[in-house]
Amino acid sequence: MGPIPLCVLLPVVLAVTVAAAAEENAVDDEYTWPQWKVPLVRKRRTVHLSSPDFSAHPQTEISGTCGIECQRRLPTPSLDDLEQLLSYETVYENGTRTYTSVSVQGLNEVTALSRNSSTRSRRKREVYGTDTRFTISDKQFSTKYPFSTTVKISTGCSGVLVSPKHVLTAAHCIHDGKDYLNGAQKLRVGILKEKSRRGKGGKGKGGRGKGKRRKGDKGKEDDEEKEDQGGKGENKGKGKGRKSRSRRSAESEKPSFRWTRVKQTQIPKGWFKGVADGLAADYDYAVLELKKAPKVKFMDLGVIPSVKKLPAGRIHFSGFDDDRPGNLIYRFCSVSEESSDLLYQYCDAKPGSSGSGVYIRLKEPGKKKWKRKIIGIFSGHQWVDVNGNGNQQDYNVAVRITPMKYAQICYWVHGDSSECQVA
Ligand SMILES: *[C@@H]1O[C@H](CO)[C@@H](O)[C@H](O)[C@H]1NC(C)=O
Ligand SMILES: *[C@@H]1O[C@H](CO)[C@@H](O)[C@H](O)[C@H]1NC(C)=O
Repeated sequence: MGPIPLCVLLPVVLAVTVAAAAEENAVDDEYTWPQWKVPLVRKRRTVHLSSPDFSAHPQTEISGTCGIECQRRLPTPSLDDLEQLLSYETVYENGTRTYTSVSVQGLNEVTALSRNSSTRSRRKREVYGTDTRFTISDKQFSTKYPFSTTVKISTGCSGVLVSPKHVLTAAHCIHDGKDYLNGAQKLRVGILKEKSRRGKGGKGKGGRGKGKRRKGDKGKEDDEEKEDQGGKGENKGKGKGRKSRSRRSAESEKPSFRWTRVKQTQIPKGWFKGVADGLAADYDYAVLELKKAPKVKFMDLGVIPSVKKLPAGRIHFSGFDDDRPGNLIYRFCSVSEESSDLLYQYCDAKPGSSGSGVYIRLKEPGKKKWKRKIIGIFSGHQWVDVNGNGNQQDYNVAVRITPMKYAQICYWVHGDSSECQVA
């Protein structure tokens, strides 16, 4: 077929563009990030606690959660309750720990500043498709935004960069509700490397010794430990840069990580056993501060009133599912149920993806540009009591970022709540 003359094509293109623009205007509000005035979380008092044992083992499933119906019936927590739940522990690299109680201000001023997107009629629920996980094996993509914000946590989970040096992940990746995980004391975060400096040829070689952390090696600035992801299997050889270009590209499927040590970890008290029984899952999030900023673009946090009422109602996340070891897996799906604190969905996910940042893409107010923001933290598989009669149904669950949780996470990241007044 020959080229179509421009005079024929142009009117068609224009008509399509105009129609698209009209449609865009009609749904503009729905597609725009709402702005929120959020409460202020402030530090009240910090006390030292005894050092934790770091004896807990990783869990793959969370149970005993207040179900969907149960969540719906819950009374709004009082200010006292909230201050309890949002108080937090900080565990430091040297194994010591503090407890910080917080005050919450401006709780009843929580409002959406911009028009809310929930005023439109509900869309028909989307049909859930088949497995929609994609392995992002090409480094061209996996080391580019938004995938590049995904990090691996040394305890086996995933996380997402939410500031130049802060990672948001799930609390259960660090702490089982009673104690810190065995691997949480020497916690590290793996950032996908842009260029593979090693090949599979390095497999089994004792490349580990070189970058291994030396105790008391304080002068060593470099946190980039030359260890393989997950600490198992392939090690890097020392022959960096020696591979030929063609070999390198053939070997580029498996990502390798640059590991960075974690300086401190913060977990809300709501996650701890005996504090909010049945509701701990609502507090399954933690923030890790890295010793060194990895110079990778991060993703902002966002708050939306309802995911299901969004057009297409879809959420996205990527992580390192352990059934496809070493690969970055991306997926999206529709949310099927939601409560004020949790999102229930059937996004295909395996352990390892816990802690991933759940994001959506909307327009910035007054701008034409689309922007992705993290609206939740993927928690994992749960058996959920659906209607309060003991009828259990399984879902994959994500903790949603409420205005309150936004305030807390933002405070952890900035250390100053005055920077966290508008979400
Ligand atoms: C551990 O680290 C924290 C934070 O850097 C510090 O405040 C504390 O004094 C340290 N404790 C010990 C015993 O080194
Ligand atoms: C958002 O929607 C709710 C329910 O329709 C309404 O009560 C509330 O006033 C709205 N908020 C704003 C800022 O328009």
